[in-house]
Order: sequence, then C-alpha cells, then structure tokens
Amino acid sequence: MRIVRTVADLRAALAPVRGSGSVGLVPTMGALHDGHLELARQARADNDAVVLSIFVNPTQFNDPSDLAAYPRDEGKDVDLAASVGVDYVFAPEVTEVYPPGFSATVTLHGPIVEALEGAHRGVGHFQGVTTVVAKLFGMVSPDRAYFGQKDAQQVRVVQAMVADLNIPTQIVVVSTVREPDGLAMSSRNRRLSPFDRARAAHVAEALRAAELAAAGGISDAWSLLHSARKVLTDNAIDVEYLELVDADTFRPIPVLVTGPAVLAVAVVIGGTRLIDNVVLRQGSAS
Ligand code: PAF
Repeated sequence: MRIVRTVADLRAALAPVRGSGSVGLVPTMGALHDGHLELARQARADNDAVVLSIFVNPTQFNDPSDLAAYPRDEGKDVDLAASVGVDYVFAPEVTEVYPPGFSATVTLHGPIVEALEGAHRGVGHFQGVTTVVAKLFGMVSPDRAYFGQKDAQQVRVVQAMVADLNIPTQIVVVSTVREPDGLAMSSRNRRLSPFDRARAAHVAEALRAAELAAAGGISDAWSLLHSARKVLTDNAIDVEYLELVDADTFRPIPVLVTGPAVLAVAVVIGGTRLIDNVVLRQGSAS
C-alpha cells in the first residue's frame, strides 16, 4: 500500500488501471474505525484499485474548536487501511486541496441541505462537504465512492450533487456499523468518557424504540418521535434535533406513508455531538 500526497502522484499511480479496471474511493477524515473499514472492504470487493482519502476538511466545520479537537492519527489509520486491502491512502495537505487563490464552491439548495445538519451546523457545512467531495471526485475520478448510512443526510446530498452535476461516479451506501450495545461507530466516540460512552448507547435504544413502534403499526410522527424522545429524556441526554423526514426530500413528514422515512437524531453527550438515524416504513422497520 502506498501513501500519496499530491494529485499528480495519485493520477500517475492510477493511470495503469484506467480503462481496463475500476477505481473505488472511500472518502474519510481519518480516525478510522470499523465503519470506515466496512466501506473499504466493500470497495475492495467491488473494484480493481481502492483509494482511501484522509483529509480533515476545514471548510465543513462550523466550529473551529470542533475542527481543532477532531482526532488525528495517520500512522494508525495507514495500518488499518492496509489491513483491509486499500491500495492507496491519499492524504493531501490543506494547500493541495485548497491552493492559494482557490475560490470555487459547490452549493446545493433546498431542504436536503437546509434541514437537520444544515439547520444546526449552518448551511456552510454541506457546502464544505459538497465542495470537497466534488474535488475528491475530480482528483480520483472514481467509478464508485462509498459512504455510510450513519450520515444519511450527507449520503442524500452527495447523491443529489452527482445527479445535478452529471458526475459519473456511482454512490454506494453501506449500512451503519454498530458497537455491540448499538452505538453507531463514529470517530467522535473516542472523545466520550467511560461514563458518557455508556450513556451514548441510549441513542440507538431510542431509535430502536421508534422502530419497534413503527413495526407495531404506529405511523404518526408525533408518537414515533415521542417513543424515541422518552428514552433520551429519561436518560438526561440533550437532544439537538429529533425529526422524522422523507428519505428523499428531507422535508418533515407528519405520518409514515408508503415511501421510506428517516428518523434522524443529533445529541450532545458530555460535550460530544453524535448523530444517528434509522429508516422507517409504514408498518415495518427496515
Ligand atoms: O463523512 C466524512 O467523513 C466527510 O464528511 C467526508 C465525506 C470525508 C468529506 O470531508
């Protein structure tokens, strides 16, 4: 496995594969965990060459202290990427991605970027994500790119971006990987104290409560959200948002109908912000 720092070196490395084989990209901000490794395993199974990018993208952080606190351990990440068969770790400097004079942005509009994460982290968050993901797609020209369902809204935003801009990259969505107690894997989990780590399991428990309610035939948003919120409030967890939205438009919905809906949550536990979600359908969990 090779570590590549520049776009020119990456393109040269991938040149022999182009035309005859496929390239898979796993975009990450490092601090790899088993959720990322699952994306890389899927990319390895699907493609001839696998690139895993590690770039803590400053433009998607609304809070400078959150950016400063973002965990970084490139040495460990490189070992983990090698262990699942990644061919190239692409770890550019900030100036390689945003050279002096850089002024482009990729901006989507509407509820998919304005709801939930957009409302709470600011619309600049998804602008930062779409800009860097578009840049990574331009740098790597992947046939497929792999994203986790844990970031359901990010997945929908990236899908909309590739559709709107006719980017010929297939977006592959991989199921959320969870700890044995249900906590969704996240680079932020390592910031939790042992006490808060134990409390964080209630986030998945809350989603599960809504999932069971939906499976039991409850379809109105108020009742579904109430069943989830009760678990969180009973455990004194600060809820930033808890919403039921249409899985395609990300507009809030009052009742489950035929299409899939996303019940999405953001909480703050011991100063650490965590997000998670579950996909619900009328009369069943999925
Ligand atoms: O999900 C992430 O880790 C980031 O948002 C991404 C997709 C790597 C863009 O910086």
